[in-house]
Amino acid sequence: MKIDFILNGRPVSVEAPGSASLLSVLRQELGLTGPKEGCGVGECGACTVLLDGQAVDSCLLPAAKAQGHEVRTVEGLARGDRLHPLQEAFLVAGAVQCGFCTPGMLMSAAALLQRRPRPSEAEIKEALEGNLCRCTGYQDILKAVRLAVAKLEERP
Ligand code: FES
Ligand code: FES
Repeated sequence: MKIDFILNGRPVSVEAPGSASLLSVLRQELGLTGPKEGCGVGECGACTVLLDGQAVDSCLLPAAKAQGHEVRTVEGLARGDRLHPLQEAFLVAGAVQCGFCTPGMLMSAAALLQRRPRPSEAEIKEALEGNLCRCTGYQDILKAVRLAVAKLEERP
């Protein structure tokens, strides 16, 4: 089947089997390897992308559901050469080790900051609770999100 949607700000049109997940279409048909396949069953969050601004597990979402919608992946987070404040904060806070979970963490955090620019600690934890990391112990990831919030507050 043919699926048309907006991917990282640009219209795309792709042929995919009716049973394909959005994750497989992004990775295999469109060559975007930012979203990762960890568990493949909605448990780890490594495949998180934004669908109309909402964080979704793209491994569970049928690609057909993207028809006519807006999808953003980690590849679409930076603005040209300028990293998103969350990406900068992850680097500064040392919140990346193997990096496998990082695209999903970033997209879940980005969805949070879009709807709650000044989230509480509890809201940050809740937004990231579906994203598993085997490396960092989460403290540096939480620190990075707090740092990005502080940076965004400083902006005029
Ligand atoms: S790969 Fe989608 S939630 Fe784990
Ligand atoms: S940095 Fe390795 S899984 Fe999170």
